Amino acid sequence: MKLLEQAIREKGTVLPNDVLKVNSFLNHQIDTELMIAIGKEFAHLFAQEGITKVLTIESSGIAPSFMAANELKSPLIFARKKKSLTLQDNVYTSSVYSYTKKETNEITVAKEFLNCNDTVLIIDDFLANGEAALGLASIVEQAGATVVGIGIVIEKSFQPGRNKLLQAGYRVESLARIESLSNGTVTFVTKNHL
Ligand code: G4P
Ligand code: NA
Ligand code: NA
Repeated sequence: MKLLEQAIREKGTVLPNDVLKVNSFLNHQIDTELMIAIGKEFAHLFAQEGITKVLTIESSGIAPSFMAANELKSPLIFARKKKSLTLQDNVYTSSVYSYTKKETNEITVAKEFLNCNDTVLIIDDFLANGEAALGLASIVEQAGATVVGIGIVIEKSFQPGRNKLLQAGYRVESLARIESLSNGTVTFVTKNHL
């Protein structure tokens, strides 16, 4: 997606350890026009799938998935990472290990919001190791619902996440695919070099 690649090129900064900082439009301050365009692109890619729920994880997945859900005329569910006072019983949970933060989060979704008739699109902001997306997919499967695909805003294609999700049988659609962050430079995957 050209608009997104342009934002990454112009506003992203490369930090040590292959981390891309995009706090000015995605992870802290949010560019709402860009999020609307991103949501429309996801909705377009998955328009034929009969999606009944969009599922993401707090906090940074919420902005890009909101407009996708709105376009698809489906509710948006965000999995909780922190224990919630009002969300304790009747929940699906999955353990998500973050390689970046070296911590495990128990992510939770209330059973009342997912059932076996649901056709679910999973969306997240970054795909690195794939643990967050696999945790969300596990929750969908615990509900007996169907994962129709995983939409990612920024994929770090040099990390193992994409292949893990493909091997698990999921359709993955990433709006920006980064081949390398070496030498402080963002290089995107080009179509003839997948
Ligand atoms: P995974 O989700 O694919 O398994 O990857 P990982 O454990 O490595 O990622 C942990 C957190 O770091 C996730 O956010 C993920 O979105 C984020 N992340 C991974 N690589 C990058 C990067 O290069 N740049 C940025 N900005 N974030 C990255 P999170 O803990 O779920 O936080 P949030 O959603 O509350 O922001
Ligand atoms: Na994040
Ligand atoms: Na995230």
